[in-house]
Amino acid sequence: MPHHSTQERLAGLLAEPATAVDGFLDTLGDAPQAGPPTGLTQRLMRTSLLPQVYERYWRPVLGRFLKGPGGPSMTGEVELAAERLALQPGQVVLDVACGTGRFTRAFGEAVRPDGLAIGLDGARTMLSRAVKETSSPTVAYLRADAVEPPLRSSTVDAICCFAALHMFAEPERALDSFARILRPGGRIVLLTSARRDWQPARILDTAGGIASGQRMFDRGEISASLRARGFEEVREQYFGVAQLVSGRLSDVR
Ligand SMILES: C[S@@+](CC[C@H](N)C(=O)[O-])C[C@H]1O[C@@H](n2cnc3c(N)ncnc32)[C@H](O)[C@@H]1O
Repeated sequence: MPHHSTQERLAGLLAEPATAVDGFLDTLGDAPQAGPPTGLTQRLMRTSLLPQVYERYWRPVLGRFLKGPGGPSMTGEVELAAERLALQPGQVVLDVACGTGRFTRAFGEAVRPDGLAIGLDGARTMLSRAVKETSSPTVAYLRADAVEPPLRSSTVDAICCFAALHMFAEPERALDSFARILRPGGRIVLLTSARRDWQPARILDTAGGIASGQRMFDRGEISASLRARGFEEVREQYFGVAQLVSGRLSDVR
């Protein structure tokens, strides 16, 4: 269970009031989910069974399938994210669509002793599990819409959004929000879908995306979107049908 004072610190960064419930702050009230429904995968995240098996089985197995044999392991993903964000003690980091908090907990360690790692998700079931798995003075959880996170502008040093952007109803608007929330010079890292270039594979990837309710982004699409929003030092890596893209928001905006 995250500490009470850490929640108060998170509340101080919010642009709207939130209610403290079950170990996290909630800005969505009675709404069953954040934003409009986008399909099967998003719906599964809200069930009570998936969060129980998510971190140990679901994510590693599905992730391996999508990243291919050459892609990073789960531990490797966490390390890559922390490395791309260049986290320092004392920083504020936002883990968007944190699920059960695997990445959030690691970020909380990286910003110790006086930083803050915020895990944001729209699903109560995921957050309840995250709260149960967390005992850290530097981690707090927030139930909110990832497309419009209710944080004040220029308040966070780093943003991570893994395995989720393709599930959002408006991913481009989410990227606008991320650029707004980040401080100048802040860093971002994203792991999302990447349609392969070879035409028969493209058709297969598109069909798979439609069936599961997930958008398939093109190669180069996310890096172009980041550059258009003032990000520099943009790096992209591809593993199977996944892309890892990172960047640093310009100091001058
Ligand atoms: C596949 S999980 C990714 C969890 C974690 N980032 C990881 O890499 O393992 C996707 C998460 O996105 C959340 N999600 C989907 N759409 C959302 C939205 N619009 N706002 C907030 N969370 C959302 C789901 O509830 C789910 O926990």
